[in-house]
Amino acid sequence: MAELDWGRTYLMCPPEHFGVLYEINPWMDAEVAVDPDRAREQWEGLRSTLEAAGATVEVVRQTPEVPDMVFTANGGIVNVAADGGPRFVPSHFWHPERQGETEQFATWFAERGWAVDRLDHELRHEGAGDALPFGGVLLSGYRFRSDRAAATQLAELTGAPVRSIELVDERLYHVDITFCPLSDRHALAAPMGWDAYGRRVVEALVPEPLWLTDDEALSFCANSVVVGTTVVMPTTPVRVGRQLEAWGFDVVTCDVGEFLKAGGGCRCLTLALDVPLGPGPRAPSPT
Ligand code: ARG
Repeated sequence: MAELDWGRTYLMCPPEHFGVLYEINPWMDAEVAVDPDRAREQWEGLRSTLEAAGATVEVVRQTPEVPDMVFTANGGIVNVAADGGPRFVPSHFWHPERQGETEQFATWFAERGWAVDRLDHELRHEGAGDALPFGGVLLSGYRFRSDRAAATQLAELTGAPVRSIELVDERLYHVDITFCPLSDRHALAAPMGWDAYGRRVVEALVPEPLWLTDDEALSFCANSVVVGTTVVMPTTPVRVGRQLEAWGFDVVTCDVGEFLKAGGGCRCLTLALDVPLGPGPRAPSPT
């Protein structure tokens, strides 16, 4: 197996204004308090775990109106392989509670010299939370947070072929809670999250999937970050940990319990900045 060719640089957002202040997924309960000190410690713990595994972390700051901005995976789609330099497609969030994040992420990238491409106004897509590269394609989830048509447009903006799969369980509302690329051959895969067609797509795409049981999937273990051969997981079911180690991975469990209260784990708290997707926007076809 070969290591992934991405996952060495991440964008993270310190939880200065994080909290469960509204409910936009089944895990969120606005009655449950977040401990801000614990959240900060857990976030720092994740950051230092990623750095110890060999990753570089960059930081974007959140403002008080957007408590969920800590989940930078949802910021947009990164493509460092485009002709003429790196490009970013900012997300169009499904829920109004998060829509204020779009321009903050777009500004962060634009200020650092990235070209920013835009989805059509009416299309919703929640970035890397709903689109992960594997085997030369972008595996994109739709239904709860992203529109299927947005994935088609992402293919045009990135030059990457897209495989769209429908998510079917509200608790697994983003594709990054159902799927985690591990190497060129391996991935964590939660069939519970997909319809029969989606399962066939993943079967055809991944040479050696680790199929998660429903309980394992609901533990959020697919919401992991992979740095080389290190897998940083919010929870590690025993069977899953053993299989990863048998494949040669080092498994680190990183407590992000305060963030699980908002329905997000390790992957959600990071946005990979080094993903090579494709040549960039397609030239407009002649009319
Ligand atoms: N509370 C956030 C939301 O519902 C959590 C986002 C989790 N992100 C992810 N990439 N799965 O939008």
